Amino acid sequence: MASKSAETLDPVLVTGGTGQVGSATLRVLREAGVAACAPSRADLDLLDEASIKAFLARNRCRAVIHCAAFTAVDRAEDEADLADAINARAPAVLAAETARLGLPIIHLSTDYVFGGTKPGLYKEDDETNPLGVYGRTKLAGETAVRAANPNHAIIRTAWVLSAWGSNFLNTMLRLGADRDDISVVDDQCGCPTSATDIAHALFAVLSALGDRGGTWHFVNSGSATWFALAEHIFSLANQAGQKTPRLHAISTAAYPTKARRPANSRLSTDLIARDFGLEPRDWREAVRSIMAEKFPASVESEQ
Ligand SMILES: NC(=O)c1ccc[n+]([C@@H]2O[C@H](COP(=O)([O-])OP(=O)(O)OC[C@H]3O[C@@H](n4cnc5c(N)ncnc54)[C@H](OP(=O)(O)O)[C@@H]3O)[C@@H](O)[C@H]2O)c1
Repeated sequence: MASKSAETLDPVLVTGGTGQVGSATLRVLREAGVAACAPSRADLDLLDEASIKAFLARNRCRAVIHCAAFTAVDRAEDEADLADAINARAPAVLAAETARLGLPIIHLSTDYVFGGTKPGLYKEDDETNPLGVYGRTKLAGETAVRAANPNHAIIRTAWVLSAWGSNFLNTMLRLGADRDDISVVDDQCGCPTSATDIAHALFAVLSALGDRGGTWHFVNSGSATWFALAEHIFSLANQAGQKTPRLHAISTAAYPTKARRPANSRLSTDLIARDFGLEPRDWREAVRSIMAEKFPASVESEQ
């Protein structure tokens, strides 16, 4: 996608524009001079097939980046129908409509499509085995997108973090302000990833996708347990003069949750590096940038 005449082209439709990845994507597109639109739920209700069709019929766009999702992993266990409607049925309709209009669709998915028993990094074609409703509905969304629109990019990411919004980093800082001791799970391993870095990757994929289709992983490089991630967050929070609690490493068994989560959901990014030249930065640098955004006077970004 050449930025030169970008403003003269139809906008990119971004769903989930109020969420972590959607809002970062809007920012990245607009900074690159690419027109983008992010309708509210009133204008594009993902639970209503007719609303999706009507929006796309009324508003010309050149591509869809689908960031909206039901992301509450534990709540999904109790609200399976709603999770399925948002994570599986809405992408099916979006993919069918974009195919009909000859548009590419970029669809966000998750490391939680995997079961977590593989010892190494998960590759795109590794067997999936979601452990909960969230992962199952996201996997169904992937399958529907692949089936309905050959011009798709399914981007699986993980452990999304940003300066605001509902995520582990902000939960830790909130708990840390109130408590002297926090117990954090130390036997689940994954790839903490910046929403802004994902947004840059989505833009790069959109720009170079052409008319092909495929599934790629994008996460920041390296890996961590939730405990190691918490340690890094609080070491930076300490530099920023924030109250820091004592951290205690615990097992998943000691912190039961409604949804089961994979013990290992580390993703390989070799394929997106090969196909799009993307070399993600280390997760520690990405977290530092987020903390620098939150505490600009005291944490320096390495970027
Ligand atoms: N968060 C993670 O750790 C993580 C990990 C792996 C993959 N992912 C995937 O990455 C993508 C982006 O995640 P995120 O963290 O940016 O999500 P998020 O911050 O939870 O935002 C979700 C977005 O979806 C919108 N949405 C939810 N239900 C909707 C509905 N019925 N109609 C219209 N919009 C609706 C929300 O709108 P409202 O503001 O109106 O609620 C919000 O804009 C998702 O596909 C997710 O599955 C996330």
